Amino acid sequence: MTAVSFSSLLDSWDRQQAAYIAEREARFNAQLEVLALAAGQDFHVVDLACGPGSLSLRILQRFPQARVTAIDLDPLLLAVARGALAEYGDRIRILQADLADPACFAALSGPAPQAAVSSTALHWLMPEQQLALYRNVAGLLADGGVFLNADHQRYDQRQPRLKALAERHDEQTQQRAWDNGVEDWDRWFAGALQSPALAAYQAEREALFAGRPVPPPTPVDFQLAALRQAGFSEAGTVWQLLDDYVIAGWK
Ligand SMILES: C[S@@+](CC[C@H](N)C(=O)[O-])C[C@H]1O[C@@H](n2cnc3c(N)ncnc32)[C@H](O)[C@@H]1O
Repeated sequence: MTAVSFSSLLDSWDRQQAAYIAEREARFNAQLEVLALAAGQDFHVVDLACGPGSLSLRILQRFPQARVTAIDLDPLLLAVARGALAEYGDRIRILQADLADPACFAALSGPAPQAAVSSTALHWLMPEQQLALYRNVAGLLADGGVFLNADHQRYDQRQPRLKALAERHDEQTQQRAWDNGVEDWDRWFAGALQSPALAAYQAEREALFAGRPVPPPTPVDFQLAALRQAGFSEAGTVWQLLDDYVIAGWK
């Protein structure tokens, strides 16, 4: 499969993900803005659960001096990321690791990174695994380093009106995308598996994700408390639309 095909798979991934996150591009931009303010231009950042490389790509494009280490568990998505980001040479390093494993950063070597980011991913971990990962991230970062996590943080029964509004907003966002012919998650993977090179990863990815529990949703106050508990000296929200947030933690 050619690099052009990997890039178009990343483009269709972006359209598919935007069906689930109404202002995904604005949310990415918020992460990039805060990254510039907090870390400058010349930094090493770790992209946690990078998927096929959407956020890594935006960082590489916006910060020509930055280096990115992109980590994910899914070998198929990592193969797309490797192909789509190949032109960035040694500014991008792509690693396979399970973020639920306390040793997930074992392969990271060299000076401590100044930043860590993530998008639409850490809700795949159980809340106690998220807390353990945040401890791990706090240990990994350089002093003063920043962690920027973009994800849905669901309203619970304490805010029934906001919960109902956010659910309606999600339904409307998805319906608009499906009406415009955007692929959903299953159709995107079915399309990717048409490539024999990517289909070769299917058995491994099924085995890696088999039997994992479905995590309960967490509210934003859990996230802020977890960051402080994990050793971040300061934590706060830097962007929000309904139940979609960018949360920052400073080591
Ligand atoms: C919805 S995708 C988001 C990908 C990318 N960050 C984006 O915004 O497009 C969720 C990602 O989390 C990854 N993931 C889920 N559980 C993981 C784990 N335990 N370790 C590493 N990656 C994981 C999946 O493989 C997938 O790439």
